Amino acid sequence: MLNRKDILGLKDMTKEEILEILETAKEMKLRIDDSSKRVNEIKGCSIVSLFYENSTRTKTSFSLAGKYLGATVQDLGVGTSSVKKGESLIDTGKTLDQMGVKIMIMRHSMTGAPHILAKNVSAHVINAGDGSNEHPTQALLDLFTILEYKKSFEGLKIAIIGDISHSRVARSNVFGLSKLGATVTLAGPSTLLGGSGLLGVKTTPDVKEAVKDADIVMGLRIQFERQKTTSFPDLAEYRELFGINKEILKYAKKNVLIMHPGPVNRGIELSTDIIDGENSVINIQVKNGVAVRMAILKLLYQGGQK
Ligand code: CP
Repeated sequence: MLNRKDILGLKDMTKEEILEILETAKEMKLRIDDSSKRVNEIKGCSIVSLFYENSTRTKTSFSLAGKYLGATVQDLGVGTSSVKKGESLIDTGKTLDQMGVKIMIMRHSMTGAPHILAKNVSAHVINAGDGSNEHPTQALLDLFTILEYKKSFEGLKIAIIGDISHSRVARSNVFGLSKLGATVTLAGPSTLLGGSGLLGVKTTPDVKEAVKDADIVMGLRIQFERQKTTSFPDLAEYRELFGINKEILKYAKKNVLIMHPGPVNRGIELSTDIIDGENSVINIQVKNGVAVRMAILKLLYQGGQK
């Protein structure tokens, strides 16, 4: 059983821990559409989400995941909370701790914010995305989806394309995929590849090179909200040079999987026919997000560390 207090990133998780979550998620997935299969395995567990940034998928899927397992789930509603009166992150966390909250799920624009929270509360803390650092549960659901379709990670070629510099999804996926034996290539405009070389995987501004013989092509959202200066002249040029479309995918394997964490800027990162095409598993990723988050909640709550 997962023996850790918090899930803050894939950089510090072992291959065994990752595989345990993926294995547990298999059974959890069966419970999403069939309510008769649901078991109140974490009844009595109080979960609160603290989202300092917007979310549709992560926040809602954690909320449903907790409810499907019998937990009490509540969103703090940061925008209407005492955070707006100036209450600090640590004081907010300690306040929730006193109320009996056992799991806190946090998204924040600042790298390391969930790590600070985790050090100061006795509740388990799950990082739901911190700045440009990590988004571990997104990467875990991506890994689960890849395993579902490809059965093994060994030897797989993964191309991750787009705004790499600002992508916590890319970073978490690089850590996870590398541990599991896949080869990752990162591609995007040179202005949006900064720092990615430090991750120890190949980087290139040439999308064709990245996509060549790829088993998986993962597009990333352009994170305009994190770009301090303009990183490319205009969207039409971005689409032309870095957009994923039918022409580019001729270089990939025939059975290539098309992935994207969402939300997608349709027609920019990916052409609409590709988003809705037969190789796309973008909607499956969303469903798998509930399964993987159920697995994480169960394993953390029932695990050895309190
Ligand atoms: N992929 C992802 O984190 O989506 P949301 O921002 O909707 O949670």
